[in-house]
Amino acid sequence: MHRPRILRASAAVRDLVQETRLHTSDLMVPLFIVEGKGVKEEISSMPGYNRYSLDLLRDEIAEISDLGLRSVLLFVKVDDRLKDNKGTEALNPNGLMQRAIQVVKEVNPELLVLTDVALDPFSSYGHDGIVENGKIINDATVEVLAQMAVSHIEAGADWVAPSDMMDGRIGAIRLAFENAGFHDAGIMAYSAKYASCFYGPFRDALDSAPGFGDKKTYQMNPANIREGLKEAMLDQEEGADMLMVKPAMAYLDVIKTIKEELLLPVSAYHVSGEYAMIKAAAEKGWLNEEAAMMESLGSIKRAGADVIATYFAKDAARVLK
Ligand code: PBG
Repeated sequence: MHRPRILRASAAVRDLVQETRLHTSDLMVPLFIVEGKGVKEEISSMPGYNRYSLDLLRDEIAEISDLGLRSVLLFVKVDDRLKDNKGTEALNPNGLMQRAIQVVKEVNPELLVLTDVALDPFSSYGHDGIVENGKIINDATVEVLAQMAVSHIEAGADWVAPSDMMDGRIGAIRLAFENAGFHDAGIMAYSAKYASCFYGPFRDALDSAPGFGDKKTYQMNPANIREGLKEAMLDQEEGADMLMVKPAMAYLDVIKTIKEELLLPVSAYHVSGEYAMIKAAAEKGWLNEEAAMMESLGSIKRAGADVIATYFAKDAARVLK
């Protein structure tokens, strides 16, 4: 006779045999940064989540650090008049991203700083690459991305996170780092990044929605898993340090497969739409927000993610405390 319920009979035994556990140290905090002073503006499609100007970013970094969170992923919202097809502003050594990196490091030099590398926030077309005759061209984009990555490390970032899905960019960035003498700069590759509807609220946050067409010629078809594994293998070979799957909850099988088949740590991006769904249902009283948050993050960890980038990082850290 088997009595599997014995392992569920009390909190003590349940805790004793719990297979996976979420830790604050697993969580990475995405941050949206804007120009200005005294700006803390809520993103309407991401209730409770804000964009910060650099002065208020200081307080936010202090709070994040106090909660025991140890890594941040930076995104900037760029003024429309600074946008062009080549994302020229991305290379400005005094640009918003470069200054934001310095601010974070001033407040907490121990915090691991990762930066988004892609052209969309800087692109007049809202695409992740340079546009020519209505197409997103690969190799010219990769050149800019490599320069952008070097510029972030020069400003003091520890790692870059290329989210563009161009071919060959991990190898190009690794080579650029070697040539610049940045032998300890890390690369978290968005390896299996799908053309997902769940990025909608993020595009509101950065005003970065594509001006024409969609992102399906570079981001992947949600129906494919072998393709995701191939992309992750290429990134591992090209010199990535961590492989990311994005979004997270609808792609748990992809997280699991990449974790099993490859050797690098795996991260998952619990994206803006995934956050917004829980927030909206909770606001209506249809879901318990804390329970939905912890169950979601726990399932991403169980699937095999070593690291989870999530807009719930601070809330989850409070629960875990
Ligand atoms: C852009 C980028 C996106 C996200 C991270 N980097 C949006 C996109 O590809 O259109 C989405 C993150 C989220 O939805 O939380 N390179």
